[in-house]
Formats: sequence, structure tokens, C-alpha cells
Amino acid sequence: MNDWKKEYEQKRITLDQVYGMIRSDDYICISYNALEPMAFLENLHTIRDRVEHVRIRHGGLWKDYPFASQKEMAGHFQAMTTFYDACNRKHHAEKLSSLVPGHMHNNTQRLLEDQKINIFYGMVTPMDRHGFMRLPLNMVYEMDALEAADTVILQVNRNLPVVQGQNMVHIRDVDYIVELDQENITISNIDPTDVEMKIGQYVAGLVPDGATIQLGIGKIPNAVGKFLAEKNDLGVHTEMITSIIADLAEQGVITCRRKTLHPGLIVGAFALGSQKLYDYLDENPMVSIMRASYINNPAVIAKNDRMTSINTCLQIDLTGQICSESLGTRQFSGPGGAGDFAVGASHAKEGKSIIAVHSTAKNGTISTIQPTLYPGSVVNITRNDIDYIVTEYGVAKMKGRCIQDRVEQLIAISHPDFRDELREKAKELMIW
Ligand code: COA
Repeated sequence: MNDWKKEYEQKRITLDQVYGMIRSDDYICISYNALEPMAFLENLHTIRDRVEHVRIRHGGLWKDYPFASQKEMAGHFQAMTTFYDACNRKHHAEKLSSLVPGHMHNNTQRLLEDQKINIFYGMVTPMDRHGFMRLPLNMVYEMDALEAADTVILQVNRNLPVVQGQNMVHIRDVDYIVELDQENITISNIDPTDVEMKIGQYVAGLVPDGATIQLGIGKIPNAVGKFLAEKNDLGVHTEMITSIIADLAEQGVITCRRKTLHPGLIVGAFALGSQKLYDYLDENPMVSIMRASYINNPAVIAKNDRMTSINTCLQIDLTGQICSESLGTRQFSGPGGAGDFAVGASHAKEGKSIIAVHSTAKNGTISTIQPTLYPGSVVNITRNDIDYIVTEYGVAKMKGRCIQDRVEQLIAISHPDFRDELREKAKELMIW
């Protein structure tokens, strides 16, 4: 047997040595979400005086790291993100970061056809006796970037769960190893409000037994999860594996046995949640983490009969166009996989693409259903790909329905305070 341990030891370096490798104009890809390498990012700004135009590709950061938040970093570092987080929102005016628009299923391929990746820096599990490490909690672009990068640097973190899937990296394909533990990045479930519980109940009513579900990001999908406990034999094909999915699997609601693609397996492109979720995922043969280029491909999603995608959004127009990433021209989050899954689910046999949203925002002062989207809004799901829209006032069916019918149904599920105004505006703009 090869002596992988010896090769591993020979490749070990320190963080300072990593910083020493970074040159002006480098394009660096980091692993993100629950694999965000915090120590690396925390001190990246220390090389500011000797570098210019270093681009850092990520999908959202958890902290206001100096390189991404301090004015004097402009020109030295640029964060290229696929998702706006609190830090990006706060510092947008300083031009320290910029969103890379794209579908989650193919924006990595488009990146790699266009740009050279100089360094991939990712966080992995310790090496096993066969020489393999795993990218356990995020495979959105990580494996593709790793394969394309000139230099591959992996940070070994003993706290990470060992999640199965097509996420193995062999020591022979790695240039350098940094041994550095980091506490797991967790997010806690916020208890749903009464309104969210109502929405959750309506959505759960649309999910048949034996459905394969995708639950998106946000508070509403978590509320939906609570009502799915009464279902039988659900399957999961999702971008994000959440704590609620682990709970439903442990309760025996999610069995995946009726899935028409990957039967028996919960498949996803990333996992983010509580430590309890990570404990559930650890060495669990029922879970497989795969590349988003596969998981989020609408043609792959559509192979799941009864595929039901459940996402939320910021704004809807009266014809059923969905905006989930911006408030007018103000970038709020990112496209994520909402569009991928809506297209995939609407093409699946007996599939359903569902958007569930509060009827109002900002303490009831703004209707989320608007006659037209705010100028500059991004359309994340076209009206051609949406089947159902749900608020706390009920369910509006879009599938197969004409605009006139859509307008009536959407007004009926809007907040009563805004119904007259919406009706007037629809008349004025002749939306019918
Ligand atoms: N005008 C002004 N503000 C508005 C608004 C409007 N029309 N609509 C919403 N907002 C505000 C809310 O008040 C809230 O602000 P606050 O935090 O200051 O209170 C904020 O926008 C976000 O709303 P909230 O409902 O709390 O967000 P959420 O955590 O449920 O997330 C999305 C909702 C749409 C941002 C999130 O789901 C997302 O980023 N989606 C895109 C990616 C995706 O769908 N991926 C799916 C696969 S994982």
C-alpha cells in the first residue's frame, strides 16, 4: 500500500506560507457556506501592501472580514460573490464586492471557460487510510474549481462531519495541506410565526405522499417542514440540506423509497444547519453530496416524478413573475437554485413548482404582491415556470391559467389592505 501519510506530511505548510504564494491579479476560489475557511480570510488583508486586484470567489461570507469590508482594500482585493450576504449589502457602496449572475447549475462551468483559477483554498475532513479527504458540506462549485486550479490548498479540519458522496479528493491531487481546526459553522432554526405556520400548512397541502421535495432557504421553508411530518415516504433532491430534512428523515417521513432518481438517497449540493444536522450527516449512508452542476441541472431534477420545489421570494407581480434576489436595483441576496428547481419541477411528471411568501413585508406596510416588480428587479422565476403561489391567505394556481385568472387569484391571496389598490392598478395597466 502507498504511504499516503508520508506524502501528506511532505505537503504540510502554514497559513503564512499560503499568503506568501498569493500574487497580484490572482483569482482565488474558496470553499464557502459551512466550509468557509475563517482563519484564512481573517488575515488575508495583511498582504494588502504587496498585491493588487486579487479576486476572491465565494458564495457569501459569514463575517465582515477586513479584506472585504475596509475601504482601503479597494483595488487590492475584490470579492466576486454568487450570493449577497449581510457584509456585501453593508459595503456595496464601497465597491468592494460584486455579484456574479448565473444559474447555479452552470455558472461554474461558465466561470471556468472564462477565467483561470490560480488558487483553490478549501476546507476538508482529515485524510483516511486510502489517502482521501472529503469536501463534506459544500459542493456548489468547490470540486470543479479544485480540479481547474493551478494550486490546490486544503485546510484539514477535524471537526467536520464525514459526509458521503462524490466529494472525495485524493492527497496526490493536492499541492499543499494546512492543518487547522475550526468550529463548525451552524445556523439555528428560528421558530416560525403564526403567519408562517399558516403558509406552511397551505404548502404542505400541495405535497402528495411519495413526493420528492426541495426546500429552499428562509424561514418559510422551515415552517413547511413542520407540516410535512404527517406525510409518508417523501424523498429529497435538493440544493440545500437543512436541519428540518434531518428531522423528517429521523422521524421516518423521509424514506426516499419512492424516488425515481437515486432511490433510497437524500441528495443535495450543500448542507447548512445545526450541529444536530451535521451529526445526522456524519457517515450516514443515506446521504450523498454531489456537485450543483448535477443536482441543480433542471433536466436532472425533472427525472424525479412528483418533484415539488418549495422556495420563497421578495416580490411577485400580478402575472406571476418572481423576484427573490433584489429590491429594485438593490442587490439583496442571489439567484441560488430557485430558478433551477422551478424549471426542473415544472418539467417533472406530476411536478410542482411552489413559491410561498408572506403577503406583506416591513411590518405590513408593503404588499409583496405588486402590480409590476419594482424597476430594476431581477426575475428569478419566469411566469412560465411557476405552478403555485402561496401566502397566509391561501393558494393561487398559476399552472395552465391565463393572466386574467392569475390576477384574480393573486389579488385574492394578497393582504386585504392592498386588494383594492391592486385591483385598481391592474385595471389601469390593463393586466388581464
Ligand atoms: N420592500 C422592501 N423590503 C422588503 C420587501 C419589499 N418589497 N420585501 C421583503 N423585504 C425585506 C424584509 O422586510 C426583510 O427585511 P428585514 O430583514 O430588514 O426585516 C428582508 O427583505 C428579507 O425578508 P425575509 O422574508 O426575512 O427573508 P428570508 O430569510 O425569508 O429570505 C429570500 C428570503 C428571498 C431573501 C431568500 O429566500 C433568498 O435569498 N432566496 C434566493 C435564493 C433561493 O431561493 N435559493 C433556493 C435554493 S436554497
